Amino acid sequence: MDKLRIGVIGVCGRGGLANHWRDSGRASVVAGADVNPTYLDDFRKRMGEGVFVTDDYRRLLERADVDAVAVTSPDFTHEEYASAALDAGKHVFCEKPLAISTEGCDRILRAWKASGKRLMVGFNMRYMSIFRAMKEIIDAGTIGEIRAAWCRHFVGHGGTFYYHDWHANRRGSNSLLLQKGSHDLDMIHWLTGRYTRRVAAFGSLDFFGGDRPNGLTCPECPDKRTCFEYDTSSRNQCCFRQEVDVEDNNVMVMELDGGIKASYLQCHFTPDYHRNYTIIGTEGRIENSEPEDKVWVRMRRANSWKELADREYAIRPAVGGHGGADPVICEDFLDMVIDGKEPLATPEAGRMSVAAGCAGAHSMRNDGMPVEVAPIAW
Ligand SMILES: NC(=O)c1ccc[n+]([C@@H]2O[C@H](COP(=O)([O-])OP(=O)(O)OC[C@H]3O[C@@H](n4cnc5c(N)ncnc54)[C@H](O)[C@@H]3O)[C@@H](O)[C@H]2O)c1
Repeated sequence: MDKLRIGVIGVCGRGGLANHWRDSGRASVVAGADVNPTYLDDFRKRMGEGVFVTDDYRRLLERADVDAVAVTSPDFTHEEYASAALDAGKHVFCEKPLAISTEGCDRILRAWKASGKRLMVGFNMRYMSIFRAMKEIIDAGTIGEIRAAWCRHFVGHGGTFYYHDWHANRRGSNSLLLQKGSHDLDMIHWLTGRYTRRVAAFGSLDFFGGDRPNGLTCPECPDKRTCFEYDTSSRNQCCFRQEVDVEDNNVMVMELDGGIKASYLQCHFTPDYHRNYTIIGTEGRIENSEPEDKVWVRMRRANSWKELADREYAIRPAVGGHGGADPVICEDFLDMVIDGKEPLATPEAGRMSVAAGCAGAHSMRNDGMPVEVAPIAW
């Protein structure tokens, strides 16, 4: 294969990954599909006049000059677009979450197996240096056998990220446990090396949502001069509109394979942004501080904190989006399709994080009852 020819579905926002493929020297971006004509015009300007653009993704999939498809459109489209792309014989990069239901993920996995093509998921956190360092330390056995995990995620800017558009509705995202949480649940799975088997969760809408009209946007709002959530971007539906029904305050406990206990807190109205993963083993504990880009290991015997020196565990300076992970995940996609390498972000992992998040959403909408995570329905 000379250059992998990529088509992008959902060209703005996360569709910006196309820039990395275009610049890689091993791929060309040949087509784009989107429902927004302005974004398509902009995409054509960025990728070159020869690029094919369409408002109907099926026209893109019909093209013989498209080898692979990146699905970077909103979550609720992933099941349809990724399955159709695989059915059309394309390799697929699908953004997280793989789908908004467990059944939707399984449908994609079956289409993947039937197609004989390659599929990977946009778990770019697996490619961030800081978390790769944690994974290396854990896999080296430094903290012993893993018995517990914890993720505390303060989503500062939760309103800006999730409550001005489709993310805030169950029909668009199902739950932020599998939208935002698909990364965190995947990191718990990846760092421990085990998948979730059962969960119980509590959650509610404690800050966003309310009685504002569904059609209200920030620029038209009478309170725009005083509202902290006022937004001038194209994501500007009122965060306090009636249709908002996705919980902004979630806690979830999990039992993983092998009896590992894990817990997850995700809150969308904290003043600051902070994400911490703590993994506890029989010999010690490891944790990170995301804003500081630091990892600590504490051993039971030493009983003292040891900050990892760059010399010991090189934490590369971040170059590129999402802590330097975006260019690397795009390269991994090319390595997978062109060189046959196994990707770090596998389809099964994509499915298991959604399945854990869906089980959590089901539990918290049913008085916190324990819910089993179903095995993959191949
Ligand atoms: N891995 C990450 O770190 C990361 C970060 C941000 C977003 N994401 C994921 O990327 C995806 C896109 O997120 P976003 O914030 O860019 O969304 P977005 O709302 O900005 O939309 C992305 C693009 O899709 C287009 N689009 C909207 N509806 C469409 C449809 N029905 N068919 C085709 N195109 C459509 C939009 O016009 C836009 O160009 C989501 O699934 C999200 O979870 C992943």
